[in-house]
Amino acid sequence: MKILYVTSEAAPFCKTGGLADVAGSLPPALAAQGDNVSVILPRYGLIAQEWKDQMTFLGYIYVDLGWRHEYCGLFSLEYQGVTWYFVDNEHYFLRGQLYGEYDDGERFAFFSRAVVDLLPMMGDMPDVVNCNDWQTALVPIYLKDYAVRWDAVRSIKTVLTIHNIEYQGMFGEHTVTDLFGLDFGWYSGGTLEWNGCVNLLKGAMLCADWITTVSPTYARQLHNAYYAHGLEQIVDLCSGKMSGVLNGLDVKSYDPSTDPCLQENYTPEDLSGKAVCKAWLQKTLGLQEAPDAPLLAIVSRLVGHKGMDLVCQVLDGIMDTGAQLVVLGKGDYGYECFFRDTQQRYGGRLSAQITYSDALARQIYAGADLFLMPSKSEPCGLSQMIAMRYGAVPIVRQTGGLADTVRSCQVGQADGNGYVFSNYNAYDMLHTIQQAIGLYHGCRADFQVVQRRGMEDDFSWGASARTYRDLYASLVG
Ligand code: GLC
Repeated sequence: MKILYVTSEAAPFCKTGGLADVAGSLPPALAAQGDNVSVILPRYGLIAQEWKDQMTFLGYIYVDLGWRHEYCGLFSLEYQGVTWYFVDNEHYFLRGQLYGEYDDGERFAFFSRAVVDLLPMMGDMPDVVNCNDWQTALVPIYLKDYAVRWDAVRSIKTVLTIHNIEYQGMFGEHTVTDLFGLDFGWYSGGTLEWNGCVNLLKGAMLCADWITTVSPTYARQLHNAYYAHGLEQIVDLCSGKMSGVLNGLDVKSYDPSTDPCLQENYTPEDLSGKAVCKAWLQKTLGLQEAPDAPLLAIVSRLVGHKGMDLVCQVLDGIMDTGAQLVVLGKGDYGYECFFRDTQQRYGGRLSAQITYSDALARQIYAGADLFLMPSKSEPCGLSQMIAMRYGAVPIVRQTGGLADTVRSCQVGQADGNGYVFSNYNAYDMLHTIQQAIGLYHGCRADFQVVQRRGMEDDFSWGASARTYRDLYASLVG
């Protein structure tokens, strides 16, 4: 089978969030099962020169977007058994950031159209095209549109993976013809129209042959208006062609026994290196060097749906437990200011790192005893899995992928690997943090049993990559 994975970001080339981790690790896992896998993404200016130096220029075409006629180059490189293609247009992609530009709609319409127009340059037609989120949602729509006139693309099967339904790609109706270069019937007929504007995610949900989302619980939750952000009726309509497949993790890269970012490596059998990592972290971040103070970490975008309002509400209660708190991440200005300010109040016990750094994130997972992730919604969530691999016991809200990966070890539950609370309530969260810290102080041996269970859980892509393969095979027939 030939599979083309279309994404707006992929680790290690460029990353803003979990999509990049998935796009960087699922394709190699699929290739390892014997399929012919390639990935296509924009050639952002931000991609490191060491990768650009390894790329081969394959050629160029011009892509038409409404009245625009745009240069489009194609580069490629081989890495981890996968061919990675990079779409080049400096006007669109030589920017200071991946997203958040005034013309994101135009940039990703260009990218999506380019993917389809470049298919002949990438060799034999793929059997399956898997696109991801709104940025690539036009791909199945263009493929349906082109198929009327282009025999070679008619049999390509399309899968749309939804990593977060909150971001839908909504635009004014004039974009249909002027920007996307589609007949207005795509809108007036109802495929692209939703609540009075263009909604690309909705269009792709209708056009794709299958829809996946990144955990089974999130797939079920999307029928509920609380989680579906206005698309619950479309989810209901598509329920016959939709499933949840839990994301895996790049367990080679996220391995505390080999991770070169750590001061000392460690294994579930011998956690002594973890204590070294904790001491280093405390020293480096200006925290009191107290080996027995429970170190609680948050590594997250500082935004509402990650549950940051709960943390703000009971921060003093969290600090009253005697814990040290490390926060790493950027996001809404209000939360950034809040954590900067509280760092002043809790000098030596709270460290706010308002930045994003992959190396520091790994050092925090390694140094932390506990990891807090109280998301309001969480399609899958990778940080809780990384935290468990690094022996930081997760405290999570029971939603989406958090519910599918963290098993409660609270009263009466055997085999737990973390702490879980279900209501979106700051005091429920605080109570759960107190329980976890109670075990940490009360019986360190039992705490280590919970730590080890998380470290030994299987978070690899194995089973999920097989599920994706079976799904593609059933679509191809
Ligand atoms: C999005 C989701 C997150 C998920 C990731 C990868 O970032 O918010 O829950 O883990 O995509 O699928």
